[in-house]
Amino acid sequence: MDEVVGLFPTPFLIVGKLLDGGLVASCLEDALQSRKAANAQTGLLSHSEPVNPQTKPAYAQIARLIAPKLVEFGAVLFGERLAWTVKEMWVNVLETGGHQLIHTHANSFISGVIYLTPSHPSARTVFHKNIGGTNFIFRHAGPNVQMGPFNADKWQMPEVEPGAMVLFPSYLLHEAPVNKGGQRVTIAFNAIPNSLDSWGYRVNFA
Ligand SMILES: [Fe+2]
Repeated sequence: MDEVVGLFPTPFLIVGKLLDGGLVASCLEDALQSRKAANAQTGLLSHSEPVNPQTKPAYAQIARLIAPKLVEFGAVLFGERLAWTVKEMWVNVLETGGHQLIHTHANSFISGVIYLTPSHPSARTVFHKNIGGTNFIFRHAGPNVQMGPFNADKWQMPEVEPGAMVLFPSYLLHEAPVNKGGQRVTIAFNAIPNSLDSWGYRVNFA
């Protein structure tokens, strides 16, 4: 029997409802009151200071909800149920017309986003395969080409409800395109395992 094998795929977890309605409402109120720093590129995107979630009761509560998901997702990434720590958490407020440039998260292994408001379809997070490099590239695209996991070079989040969370490897490029809808508020975070060990060659992170 013929079989197409998806070699070396990228894991991506969507949790449809991590936060209940009450926690979404309280986090949203808190997010909009948090001291905000304008993004370096655009005044239509602002972030709160990244903080250790243990310094803030609401964040600590969210970190407890995230914890078992990190263990399971980490086991997919590294093949073992490791101890994980959310080391920083922050709020992003994207106004109408704002965008977040393509980026990755350094010094982190699993990153995540929790959606506190609906996202207009224009502003749903877009994830990319690696771009650039120093080789010439051929591609096949157009109206007759059906895109799928083997030829697509980017993927946009489906619609999710407030309270949903996604987890992804921190190396994965992502962006928020120009927001043609209303204010969009998210909580983002980075997580690390306590250590990684390759046949006794151990690196401790926590
Ligand atoms: Fe990000």
